[in-house]
Amino acid sequence: MHSIPDEPRQLLDREAYVSRQWFERESQELFANTWHFACMAFELPEPGDYLTTTIAGHPIFIIRDADGELSAWHNLCRHRGTELLEGTGNTGKTIVCPYHRWTYGIDGRLRGLPDRADCFPDLDRDNHHLLPIGLGVFKEMAFVNLGEPEGAGFEQWIGSLRGKEWPHEISASKLIASQPFIYDVACNWKVFCENALDGYHLAYLHENTLGGPVPAKNVWEAHGRNLVWYSTERDGLKNRIPVFVEKHAGLGASKVPGADQPGYGGVYYLFPTTLVTPSPWSLTITAMRPVGEGRLRLEARTWVPDSWLGYKESPQDAPGFDSESGTIRSANWQVHPLETGDFQTEDIWVCEKMQRSLDSPAYAIRQLAGGSGGEAALETFQRNVLDFVQ
Ligand code: FES
Ligand SMILES: [Fe+2]
Repeated sequence: MHSIPDEPRQLLDREAYVSRQWFERESQELFANTWHFACMAFELPEPGDYLTTTIAGHPIFIIRDADGELSAWHNLCRHRGTELLEGTGNTGKTIVCPYHRWTYGIDGRLRGLPDRADCFPDLDRDNHHLLPIGLGVFKEMAFVNLGEPEGAGFEQWIGSLRGKEWPHEISASKLIASQPFIYDVACNWKVFCENALDGYHLAYLHENTLGGPVPAKNVWEAHGRNLVWYSTERDGLKNRIPVFVEKHAGLGASKVPGADQPGYGGVYYLFPTTLVTPSPWSLTITAMRPVGEGRLRLEARTWVPDSWLGYKESPQDAPGFDSESGTIRSANWQVHPLETGDFQTEDIWVCEKMQRSLDSPAYAIRQLAGGSGGEAALETFQRNVLDFVQ
């Protein structure tokens, strides 16, 4: 695996961020063979509870089986491929295809089909099992992998993160909004990742929100392909504290237990598309769903400590919420992004600017910020991408 270099280099050229061909190769060679966040395990508590989503363009579903185990499947009927389940819900003991009513157990087995004697006299039911995909759970977060139906590589991918300090136990009751915050961002997914892995911009782009720390106070660690950032300056986020305390006055804005421990993270990046970003007051999981070479959908949810249980937020309150699409987008910003007081908005603003720059033939990067807290993790990230897309 790749470590964090002292003198980082930009390894990907602009084609990697703008070309359709690159994006198609990533979909097939990278996204279809890696672990992606799907949902929290506690969202599906009862047998038959399911949730559908799309990974790398493939419709899938996750379901709790009769033994209480989670499993994940391609959301395709084995007859002629119709999508089986929709949205979320409980399907009971069976999954029935709406087209010709082939019926599967929640263990994926084909149980029965109408008019079998007339229409399929010699059909072998065992050959028509639903197709499994890999599933693994870490800290209640359920991840899926299309390329590993047995899920064998999950523990290896999580690796030393199992032993790493973890900022916040997450449970259903601590979620601040029932709906995820969905962002529609005009940038390549790698532009967004590289911004998240950039320890150099925190004190500058985010002067009005995070207000730091400077690179010398940053530490990046590689855990296999996953990257963790934390600051050695425990109370270095000087501007953020008054903003939070003021915003949440009366709610007992206490810190997450353990937030003062050394090694408490600021970013846990689980390669390639999951970003877990704790603050001393909250924890956010952001799932990146790349939809094109210049388009990224983000699905973000935030949890807060027990002491905040009265606290709720809604995507409608986010800067740039568009009620027609239900997404948050830059075209709907009412004030300049640097005046929103929201660091996510600041990041999206700069990511979209970067993507526009990438369209210029004059675009070139000469040097990245050295030292392990600057832009060194960008090279590590790019090496991981290149391992899949050669
Ligand atoms: S496609 Fe599902 S039963 Fe025909
Ligand atoms: Fe940022």
